[in-house]
Amino acid sequence: MSTLGKKLDRLLIKVVVPLVIAGALVGLMLGYVVFYSNQFTDTGYRPQQPIAFSHRLHSGDLKISCFYCHSAAEKTATATVPPTQVCMNCHSVVKRDSPEIKKVIQSFEANKPIEWIRVHKLSDFVQFKHQVHIQAGVSCFECHGPVDQMDVIRQEKPLSMGWCLDCHRKKNILTQPSRLEDVIERASKDETFYEEIKGGLKKHQGTPWVQEHQRKKGSTNCSSCHY
Ligand code: HEC
Ligand code: HEC
Ligand code: HEC
Ligand code: HEC
Ligand code: HEC
Repeated sequence: MSTLGKKLDRLLIKVVVPLVIAGALVGLMLGYVVFYSNQFTDTGYRPQQPIAFSHRLHSGDLKISCFYCHSAAEKTATATVPPTQVCMNCHSVVKRDSPEIKKVIQSFEANKPIEWIRVHKLSDFVQFKHQVHIQAGVSCFECHGPVDQMDVIRQEKPLSMGWCLDCHRKKNILTQPSRLEDVIERASKDETFYEEIKGGLKKHQGTPWVQEHQRKKGSTNCSSCHY
């Protein structure tokens, strides 16, 4: 083989092969970012659940408080989905003949949890705590959208780092109350005040509850969410 041929061989091994491998890796990474990162795929995620449980019916029409079923959100990091026992508080009587309720009763009698499919899920390297946000007066609707109008739960927000930080940079998250009622109701434990405040916050500037909660602001330090 000619020296030129050998040189070409070496060139192939030393330059072209690594380039092809690097190219393939970059391609894979880009593909991963575009197709699998939260920002691009999870918004709108709306899996079919094992039982046709409707938030529109239970929260919207029947006006059952979010905290009746997700009370853990106030106290712990996870909001948790209620155990079948909570459904049975009503469905041991209500609509027992419905095929969907029969599934609920079956789960209860067999002592087998209903296998709800998880909708919102952050990667393991991020820490999120519900109770911090609920106690600060952030409404469920701010992060989960109009759940009370959803027959099937769907992910409304990207839950990306940019999305968390957008809110953490805001100085005053309580100026645009959408549906703060349910949080404020719990936070204030004062019915007269609740009646006063639920119409909007603007005319209540200066009251102690608003003042205290307006000071709350999330952090942008890496270590508050990644540790
Ligand atoms: C009667 C009980 C009940 C009430 C009231 C209720 N929920 Fe739920 N929630 C459930 C159950 C059961 C699931 C799991 C099934 C599903 O996703 O539909 C769930 C799921 C969710 C999820 C998705 C969890 C995941 O997998 O990511 C969110 C978010 C949520 N609820 C928010 C709310 C909000 C906000 C309210 C108040 C407007 C509320 N819920 C009221 C029972 C309830
Ligand atoms: C500041 C934004 C924010 C607020 C406010 C918020 N959530 Fe969440 N929620 C999230 C995020 C982010 C996840 C995914 C958490 C994870 O994977 O660790 C989640 C997950 C959930 C889940 C499923 C997983 C779990 O933690 O059990 C339920 C149920 C839920 N939220 C219900 C609620 C309810 C009910 C409220 C109001 C009482 C509420 N959330 C308020 C952001 C929020
Ligand atoms: C506070 C009372 C209450 C609780 C708690 C409750 N429900 Fe209901 N549920 C009702 C009422 C009332 C209806 C509507 C009945 C009607 O259509 O007249 C209903 C309707 C339903 C239906 C529709 C049935 C059909 O065939 O029309 C399903 C499915 C259902 N509930 C599932 C659940 C599940 C699952 C849970 C627990 C996570 C739950 N419910 C908790 C009161 C409740
Ligand atoms: C709608 C506004 C809002 C969104 C969206 C939001 N947060 Fe927050 N977060 C807050 C506020 C306000 C506080 C401060 C609470 C306090 O000081 O008591 C906070 C506090 C925290 C804290 C406690 C540490 C600290 O002092 O900052 C963590 C951790 C946190 N948020 C993580 C997240 C993550 C992760 C996301 C996205 C998945 C997120 N938050 C989305 C408003 C928000
Ligand atoms: C308010 C909470 C919060 C803070 C503060 C924060 N992050 Fe993140 N970070 C997140 C969330 C949420 C994700 C996306 C997680 C997922 O995809 O499930 C993320 C993802 C990441 C990723 C993975 C790549 C990506 O974009 O998905 C890296 C790397 C990262 N963060 C680094 C940092 C660094 C460095 C800082 C400090 C400058 C920081 N983060 C501050 C919440 C936060």
